[in-house]
Amino acid sequence: MTLTVFFSAPAVWGEYRDLLPLLLENAGIDAQVVTEAPDPVAVDYIIYAPSATLQNFTPFTRCKAVLSLWAGVERIVGNATLTQPLCRMVDNGLTEGMVEWVTGHVLRHHLGMDRHIVNPGHIWDATCPPLARERKVAMLGMGALGTACAQALAALNFNVVGWSRTEKVTEGIQGFHGEAGLEDTLRGADIVVTLLPKTPETENILNAERLSWLKPGAFILNPGRGPLIDDAALLAALDTGQIGHATLDVFRIEPLPENHRFWSHARVTVTPHIAADTRATGAAKVLVENIRRSEAGEPLLHLVDRTRGY
Ligand code: NDP
Ligand code: OXD
Repeated sequence: MTLTVFFSAPAVWGEYRDLLPLLLENAGIDAQVVTEAPDPVAVDYIIYAPSATLQNFTPFTRCKAVLSLWAGVERIVGNATLTQPLCRMVDNGLTEGMVEWVTGHVLRHHLGMDRHIVNPGHIWDATCPPLARERKVAMLGMGALGTACAQALAALNFNVVGWSRTEKVTEGIQGFHGEAGLEDTLRGADIVVTLLPKTPETENILNAERLSWLKPGAFILNPGRGPLIDDAALLAALDTGQIGHATLDVFRIEPLPENHRFWSHARVTVTPHIAADTRATGAAKVLVENIRRSEAGEPLLHLVDRTRGY
């Protein structure tokens, strides 16, 4: 029987229109991909992005899985109408993009590149930066993205410590976990990178007290989610110099409102949620592999734990 795959993310359909049916066919899956589902009962799989208008999953009684194009699923994970298994996106393109964004911005701050790139007074500032091995980088979140970024930074000799919910062993990276491990992770850190999902437990994880544990003048990179940081506490810490610079990719409200202080703060860099994009070429393979697995009765990849929220 021909499967019906409902691609419910019209904003990116153009990238998948030719690719997805081709990959399904190559995988030997007899499927039609539709962008509208006039008869929800006929839908076997839903491909989802937060931009989709789809909110009520109840009518999709035959649907075997909802496959998110995004890694972060906070906007769908608590949807009470969603009874189907939910898979998030884990894909090499997403990971490589995040590694590039994180290493690029870490190196910017580590080397003090701004001093020379933005130097209208032509000041001959020959201050020598410390070596990477002398910088402690705290990676909050050691999942698919955090681990890859931590490894890339460790390969550049940074002294990387990782923090996760459960214990993790990653070669070359000292690991801490749970509430009890957070202070050891952050205390004296020169650079903090937040790659945690947004859950009730991670909201405002970087608050005033925890920001005070960092080395004075520390740098913060947040490509995770806006609510991971207490904005008011961050602004206060930037104003006192406790935080030297914050590079923020994600915000409580996106796009970041024009009047938000982050836009005008001299020690904040705003990037518009571009740290890592889902690239269709890799993502389509992940979607097709999960449909193949589901049809073969094999376990789904990247299944979200609905109680944990990620
Ligand atoms: P994963 O689910 O693979 O990893 C999440 C990590 O966070 C895990 O190590 C997990 O611990 C840890 N964690 C979760 N809750 C807690 C907690 N309460 N205390 C301590 N650690 C916790 O996610 P990804 O690495 O794939 O993605 C991380 C986030 O990055 C996404 O949720 C999304 O918000 C964001 N993102 C941003 C993008 C951008 O362009 N800005 C692009 C893609 C993702 P454990 O390992 O023990 O489970
Ligand atoms: C994601 C994101 O979660 O782009 O994939 O933020």
